[in-house]
Amino acid sequence: MKIFKTSGIILSAICGLFIAAVLFMYFMSPSSAGSKIAAGKELPWHVVAAHRGASYYAPENTLPAFIIAAGLGADYIECDVQRTRDGKLVIFHDRTPGRTTDVSKVFPGREKDPLGSFKYSELLKLDAGSWFNVKNPDRARKSFEGTKICTFDEYINVAVKSINKPALMIELKHPELYPGIEKEVIDTLARFGRINNGAARPDMIQTFNRKSLGVCKELAPSIPRNFLVDEKGKEDTDWDDRGWAGLLDDAVSAEAEIGPSGHLGWPWYTGKAHDRGLLVITYTIDKDIHFRLLTFFGVDWIITNRCDRALEFYGRRPEASPEEIMKKYSL
Ligand code: G3P
Ligand code: CA
Repeated sequence: MKIFKTSGIILSAICGLFIAAVLFMYFMSPSSAGSKIAAGKELPWHVVAAHRGASYYAPENTLPAFIIAAGLGADYIECDVQRTRDGKLVIFHDRTPGRTTDVSKVFPGREKDPLGSFKYSELLKLDAGSWFNVKNPDRARKSFEGTKICTFDEYINVAVKSINKPALMIELKHPELYPGIEKEVIDTLARFGRINNGAARPDMIQTFNRKSLGVCKELAPSIPRNFLVDEKGKEDTDWDDRGWAGLLDDAVSAEAEIGPSGHLGWPWYTGKAHDRGLLVITYTIDKDIHFRLLTFFGVDWIITNRCDRALEFYGRRPEASPEEIMKKYSL
Protein backbone atom coordinates (compact mmCIF):
# COMPACT_ATOMS: atom_id res chain seq x y z
CA MET A 1 0.00 0.00 0.00
CA LYS A 2 2.79 2.34 1.05
CA ILE A 3 4.68 1.67 -2.16
CA PHE A 4 1.62 2.74 -4.21
CA LYS A 5 1.31 5.93 -2.21
CA THR A 6 4.98 6.79 -2.71
CA SER A 7 4.85 6.09 -6.46
CA GLY A 8 1.72 8.27 -6.69
CA ILE A 9 3.53 11.14 -5.04
CA ILE A 10 6.55 10.75 -7.33
CA LEU A 11 4.35 10.57 -10.43
CA SER A 12 2.39 13.68 -9.40
CA ALA A 13 5.65 15.54 -8.76
CA ILE A 14 6.97 14.59 -12.22
CA CYS A 15 3.71 15.66 -13.88
CA GLY A 16 3.72 18.91 -11.90
CA LEU A 17 7.31 19.65 -12.91
CA PHE A 18 6.53 18.87 -16.53
CA ILE A 19 3.52 21.21 -16.58
CA ALA A 20 5.54 23.93 -14.83
CA ALA A 21 8.34 23.55 -17.41
CA VAL A 22 5.90 23.77 -20.32
CA LEU A 23 4.21 26.86 -18.85
CA PHE A 24 7.60 28.44 -18.16
CA MET A 25 8.65 27.85 -21.77
CA TYR A 26 5.37 29.22 -23.06
CA PHE A 27 5.75 32.44 -21.08
CA MET A 28 9.37 32.74 -22.18
CA SER A 29 8.20 32.71 -25.80
CA PRO A 30 4.44 32.81 -26.40
CA SER A 31 3.42 31.05 -29.61
CA SER A 32 1.70 34.11 -31.01
CA ALA A 33 4.47 36.65 -30.32
CA GLY A 34 5.53 36.74 -33.96
CA SER A 35 2.07 37.53 -35.34
CA LYS A 36 2.34 41.21 -34.40
CA ILE A 37 5.90 41.42 -35.69
CA ALA A 38 4.78 39.98 -39.03
CA ALA A 39 1.85 42.39 -39.23
CA GLY A 40 4.12 45.34 -38.44
CA LYS A 41 6.43 44.37 -41.31
CA GLU A 42 3.57 43.54 -43.67
CA LEU A 43 4.80 39.97 -43.90
CA PRO A 44 2.63 36.87 -43.72
CA TRP A 45 2.64 34.69 -40.61
CA HIS A 46 2.58 30.93 -40.18
CA VAL A 47 4.14 30.46 -43.53
CA VAL A 48 5.20 27.24 -45.25
CA ALA A 49 8.32 27.34 -47.42
CA ALA A 50 9.06 24.29 -49.56
CA HIS A 51 12.74 23.51 -48.98
CA ARG A 52 14.47 23.01 -52.36
CA GLY A 53 10.90 22.60 -53.67
CA ALA A 54 8.80 19.61 -52.67
CA SER A 55 12.05 17.75 -52.24
CA TYR A 56 10.53 14.74 -50.50
CA TYR A 57 8.64 13.91 -53.70
CA ALA A 58 11.06 14.93 -56.46
CA PRO A 59 14.76 15.66 -56.97
CA GLU A 60 15.69 18.74 -54.93
CA ASN A 61 16.03 22.14 -56.59
CA THR A 62 14.63 20.94 -59.93
CA LEU A 63 11.58 22.07 -61.89
CA PRO A 64 9.49 19.01 -60.90
CA ALA A 65 10.14 19.76 -57.21
CA PHE A 66 9.17 23.41 -57.67
CA ILE A 67 6.07 22.59 -59.71
CA ILE A 68 4.82 20.12 -57.09
CA ALA A 69 5.44 22.60 -54.26
CA ALA A 70 3.57 25.33 -56.14
CA GLY A 71 0.71 22.93 -56.91
CA LEU A 72 0.43 21.89 -53.28
CA GLY A 73 0.03 25.54 -52.29
CA ALA A 74 3.32 26.23 -50.49
CA ASP A 75 3.55 29.92 -49.63
CA TYR A 76 7.19 30.07 -50.67
CA ILE A 77 9.37 27.84 -52.81
CA GLU A 78 12.93 27.82 -51.55
CA CYS A 79 15.94 27.42 -53.83
CA ASP A 80 19.74 27.73 -53.73
CA VAL A 81 21.25 29.92 -56.41
CA GLN A 82 24.81 29.73 -57.73
CA ARG A 83 26.56 30.83 -60.95
CA THR A 84 28.24 28.93 -63.77
CA ARG A 85 31.71 29.75 -65.10
CA ASP A 86 30.12 31.59 -68.01
CA GLY A 87 27.85 33.67 -65.80
CA LYS A 88 24.47 31.88 -65.79
CA LEU A 89 22.50 31.85 -62.54
CA VAL A 90 21.51 28.26 -61.81
CA ILE A 91 19.73 26.44 -59.02
CA PHE A 92 21.94 24.02 -57.13
CA HIS A 93 22.68 23.28 -53.50
CA ASP A 94 26.08 21.64 -53.07
CA ARG A 95 29.47 23.19 -53.75
CA THR A 96 30.22 20.30 -56.11
CA PRO A 97 28.00 18.27 -58.45
CA GLY A 98 28.95 14.78 -57.17
CA ARG A 99 26.00 14.00 -54.89
CA THR A 100 23.04 14.93 -57.07
CA THR A 101 24.22 14.39 -60.64
CA ASP A 102 25.90 11.78 -62.81
CA VAL A 103 29.00 13.98 -63.23
CA SER A 104 31.26 10.99 -62.54
CA LYS A 105 29.92 9.35 -65.71
CA VAL A 106 29.78 12.44 -67.92
CA PHE A 107 32.94 14.22 -66.75
CA PRO A 108 35.01 11.58 -64.92
CA GLY A 109 37.37 13.17 -62.41
CA ARG A 110 35.36 16.39 -62.07
CA GLU A 111 33.06 15.16 -59.28
CA LYS A 112 34.75 17.36 -56.71
CA ASP A 113 35.19 20.40 -58.91
CA PRO A 114 33.28 23.49 -57.77
CA LEU A 115 29.93 23.94 -59.45
CA GLY A 116 31.07 27.37 -60.61
CA SER A 117 33.89 25.82 -62.63
CA PHE A 118 31.37 24.30 -65.05
CA LYS A 119 29.95 26.10 -68.06
CA TYR A 120 26.18 26.16 -68.38
CA SER A 121 26.37 23.97 -71.50
CA GLU A 122 28.31 21.41 -69.45
CA LEU A 123 25.80 21.41 -66.60
CA LEU A 124 23.06 20.79 -69.13
CA LYS A 125 24.69 17.46 -69.99
CA LEU A 126 24.17 16.22 -66.41
CA ASP A 127 21.29 14.13 -65.12
CA ALA A 128 20.15 15.74 -61.85
CA GLY A 129 17.24 13.35 -61.27
CA SER A 130 18.35 9.72 -61.34
CA TRP A 131 20.19 9.92 -58.00
CA PHE A 132 16.77 10.59 -56.38
CA ASN A 133 15.34 7.36 -57.78
CA VAL A 134 18.29 5.37 -56.48
CA LYS A 135 18.08 6.95 -53.04
CA ASN A 136 14.29 6.80 -52.76
CA PRO A 137 13.04 3.70 -54.59
CA ASP A 138 9.60 4.11 -53.00
CA ARG A 139 9.21 7.54 -54.65
CA ALA A 140 11.16 6.87 -57.83
CA ARG A 141 9.68 7.85 -61.22
CA LYS A 142 10.98 7.04 -64.65
CA SER A 143 10.34 10.65 -65.66
CA PHE A 144 12.87 11.97 -63.13
CA GLU A 145 15.67 10.34 -65.10
CA GLY A 146 17.53 12.97 -67.07
CA THR A 147 16.08 15.95 -65.16
CA LYS A 148 18.20 19.00 -65.92
CA ILE A 149 19.69 21.55 -63.55
CA CYS A 150 17.43 24.57 -63.97
CA THR A 151 18.25 28.24 -64.34
CA PHE A 152 17.16 30.99 -61.97
CA ASP A 153 14.80 32.31 -64.67
CA GLU A 154 13.15 28.89 -65.08
CA TYR A 155 12.64 28.67 -61.32
CA ILE A 156 11.01 32.11 -61.23
CA ASN A 157 8.76 31.14 -64.12
CA VAL A 158 7.30 28.26 -62.09
CA ALA A 159 6.01 30.81 -59.58
CA VAL A 160 4.86 33.19 -62.30
CA LYS A 161 2.86 30.49 -64.10
CA SER A 162 1.37 28.79 -61.04
CA ILE A 163 -2.22 29.70 -60.21
CA ASN A 164 -1.27 29.53 -56.52
CA LYS A 165 1.33 32.28 -57.02
CA PRO A 166 3.90 31.12 -54.47
CA ALA A 167 6.57 33.60 -53.51
CA LEU A 168 10.28 32.97 -53.94
CA MET A 169 12.66 32.26 -51.10
CA ILE A 170 16.05 32.62 -52.69
CA GLU A 171 19.11 31.44 -50.86
CA LEU A 172 22.39 32.91 -52.06
CA LYS A 173 24.48 29.77 -51.70
CA HIS A 174 28.19 30.27 -51.03
CA PRO A 175 27.95 33.89 -52.28
CA GLU A 176 31.60 34.46 -51.37
CA LEU A 177 32.42 32.31 -54.41
CA TYR A 178 30.39 34.49 -56.75
CA PRO A 179 31.27 38.19 -56.45
CA GLY A 180 28.39 40.39 -57.58
CA ILE A 181 25.76 37.65 -57.41
CA GLU A 182 23.56 39.77 -55.14
CA LYS A 183 23.11 42.41 -57.86
CA GLU A 184 22.49 39.79 -60.53
CA VAL A 185 19.76 38.13 -58.46
CA ILE A 186 18.16 41.46 -57.61
CA ASP A 187 18.34 42.66 -61.23
CA THR A 188 16.66 39.44 -62.32
CA LEU A 189 13.86 39.93 -59.80
CA ALA A 190 13.44 43.50 -61.08
CA ARG A 191 13.28 42.24 -64.66
CA PHE A 192 10.40 39.97 -63.65
CA GLY A 193 8.67 42.91 -61.90
CA ARG A 194 8.87 41.22 -58.53
CA ILE A 195 10.23 44.09 -56.42
CA ASN A 196 7.87 46.55 -54.68
CA ASN A 197 4.94 44.91 -56.44
CA GLY A 198 2.61 44.97 -53.43
CA ALA A 199 2.52 41.17 -53.14
CA ALA A 200 1.05 39.88 -49.87
CA ARG A 201 3.92 37.40 -49.85
CA PRO A 202 6.96 39.30 -51.09
CA ASP A 203 9.96 37.37 -52.39
CA MET A 204 12.70 36.94 -49.81
CA ILE A 205 16.48 36.61 -50.05
CA GLN A 206 18.32 34.55 -47.47
CA THR A 207 21.88 33.52 -46.80
CA PHE A 208 24.26 32.37 -44.09
CA ASN A 209 26.67 35.08 -45.23
CA ARG A 210 26.39 38.31 -43.21
CA LYS A 211 28.33 40.38 -45.73
CA SER A 212 26.15 39.28 -48.60
CA LEU A 213 23.04 40.11 -46.60
CA GLY A 214 24.42 43.61 -46.07
CA VAL A 215 25.00 44.00 -49.80
CA CYS A 216 21.37 43.00 -50.46
CA LYS A 217 20.18 45.56 -47.93
CA GLU A 218 22.16 48.29 -49.67
CA LEU A 219 21.03 47.31 -53.16
CA ALA A 220 17.36 46.62 -52.52
CA PRO A 221 16.28 47.49 -48.99
CA SER A 222 12.64 46.66 -49.69
CA ILE A 223 13.29 42.97 -50.41
CA PRO A 224 12.81 41.05 -47.15
CA ARG A 225 15.87 39.23 -45.93
CA ASN A 226 16.55 36.24 -43.70
CA PHE A 227 19.83 35.63 -41.88
CA LEU A 228 20.33 31.86 -41.81
CA VAL A 229 22.19 30.48 -38.82
CA ASP A 230 23.20 27.05 -37.69
CA GLU A 231 24.22 25.56 -34.37
CA LYS A 232 27.52 26.39 -32.74
CA GLY A 233 30.35 24.39 -34.31
CA LYS A 234 28.65 23.88 -37.69
CA GLU A 235 30.63 25.22 -40.65
CA ASP A 236 28.04 27.69 -41.97
CA THR A 237 27.80 29.95 -38.91
CA ASP A 238 30.52 31.48 -36.76
CA TRP A 239 29.33 31.96 -33.27
CA ASP A 240 31.60 34.47 -31.56
CA ASP A 241 31.76 35.59 -27.93
CA ARG A 242 28.47 37.42 -28.35
CA GLY A 243 26.62 34.10 -28.74
CA TRP A 244 22.97 34.07 -29.84
CA ALA A 245 22.62 37.76 -28.98
CA GLY A 246 25.40 38.54 -31.46
CA LEU A 247 23.66 36.65 -34.25
CA LEU A 248 20.48 38.59 -33.47
CA ASP A 249 22.50 41.83 -33.57
CA ASP A 250 23.76 40.91 -37.02
CA ALA A 251 20.24 40.14 -38.23
CA VAL A 252 18.97 43.44 -36.84
CA SER A 253 21.75 45.42 -38.51
CA ALA A 254 21.00 43.76 -41.87
CA GLU A 255 17.28 44.47 -41.25
CA ALA A 256 16.71 40.77 -41.73
CA GLU A 257 14.70 38.10 -39.97
CA ILE A 258 16.48 35.22 -38.26
CA GLY A 259 16.55 31.74 -39.82
CA PRO A 260 17.81 29.19 -37.30
CA SER A 261 18.04 25.45 -37.79
CA GLY A 262 15.44 23.41 -35.92
CA HIS A 263 17.89 22.71 -33.10
CA LEU A 264 17.72 26.41 -32.24
CA GLY A 265 13.93 26.42 -31.94
CA TRP A 266 13.86 26.48 -28.15
CA PRO A 267 12.03 29.29 -26.36
CA TRP A 268 15.24 30.82 -25.00
CA TYR A 269 16.21 31.43 -28.64
CA THR A 270 12.83 32.27 -30.18
CA GLY A 271 11.83 34.53 -27.26
CA LYS A 272 14.99 36.62 -27.59
CA ALA A 273 14.50 36.91 -31.35
CA HIS A 274 10.96 38.18 -30.85
CA ASP A 275 12.19 40.63 -28.22
CA ARG A 276 14.46 42.08 -30.93
CA GLY A 277 11.51 42.34 -33.33
CA LEU A 278 12.61 39.44 -35.53
CA LEU A 279 10.52 36.69 -37.08
CA VAL A 280 11.85 33.17 -36.56
CA ILE A 281 12.06 31.27 -39.85
CA THR A 282 13.14 27.76 -39.01
CA TYR A 283 14.70 25.13 -41.30
CA THR A 284 14.44 22.21 -42.07
CA ILE A 285 11.72 20.45 -40.12
CA ASP A 286 9.54 17.70 -41.53
CA LYS A 287 7.79 15.92 -38.68
CA ASP A 288 4.39 16.79 -37.19
CA ILE A 289 5.80 16.62 -33.67
CA HIS A 290 8.45 19.20 -34.61
CA PHE A 291 5.91 21.49 -36.31
CA ARG A 292 3.79 21.32 -33.15
CA LEU A 293 6.56 21.73 -30.62
CA LEU A 294 8.47 24.49 -32.38
CA THR A 295 5.31 26.43 -33.23
CA PHE A 296 4.36 26.20 -29.57
CA PHE A 297 7.80 27.65 -28.78
CA GLY A 298 7.16 30.57 -31.13
CA VAL A 299 8.60 29.59 -34.52
CA ASP A 300 6.82 31.75 -37.11
CA TRP A 301 7.64 30.23 -40.50
CA ILE A 302 8.50 26.63 -41.34
CA ILE A 303 10.97 25.64 -44.04
CA THR A 304 10.33 22.00 -44.83
CA ASN A 305 10.82 19.17 -47.30
CA ARG A 306 7.23 18.13 -46.50
CA CYS A 307 5.27 21.24 -47.45
CA ASP A 308 2.11 19.11 -47.77
CA ARG A 309 2.36 18.08 -44.11
CA ALA A 310 3.22 21.56 -42.87
CA LEU A 311 0.28 23.08 -44.76
CA GLU A 312 -2.00 20.51 -43.18
CA PHE A 313 -0.53 21.32 -39.78
CA TYR A 314 -1.53 24.96 -40.29
CA GLY A 315 -5.02 23.77 -41.27
CA ARG A 316 -4.60 24.29 -45.01
CA ARG A 317 -4.87 20.84 -46.51
CA PRO A 318 -3.64 20.88 -50.15
CA GLU A 319 -6.46 20.48 -52.66
CA ALA A 320 -4.53 18.00 -54.77
CA SER A 321 -2.16 15.22 -53.76
CA PRO A 322 1.46 15.20 -55.01
CA GLU A 323 0.49 12.24 -57.21
CA GLU A 324 -2.37 14.21 -58.81
CA ILE A 325 -0.13 17.21 -59.41
CA MET A 326 2.54 15.02 -61.02
CA LYS A 327 -0.10 13.50 -63.28
CA LYS A 328 -1.51 16.92 -64.21
CA TYR A 329 1.91 18.24 -65.23
CA SER A 330 3.07 14.94 -66.73
CA LEU A 331 5.96 14.69 -64.28
O1 G3P B 1 16.15 27.40 -46.17
C1 G3P B 1 17.22 27.25 -45.32
C2 G3P B 1 18.02 26.07 -45.66
O2 G3P B 1 17.86 25.79 -47.01
C3 G3P B 1 19.44 26.23 -45.34
O3 G3P B 1 20.13 25.05 -45.43
O4 G3P B 1 21.76 23.63 -46.52
O5 G3P B 1 19.38 23.26 -46.95
O6 G3P B 1 20.51 25.23 -47.92
P1 G3P B 1 20.46 24.26 -46.78
CA1 CA C 1 18.81 26.40 -49.00
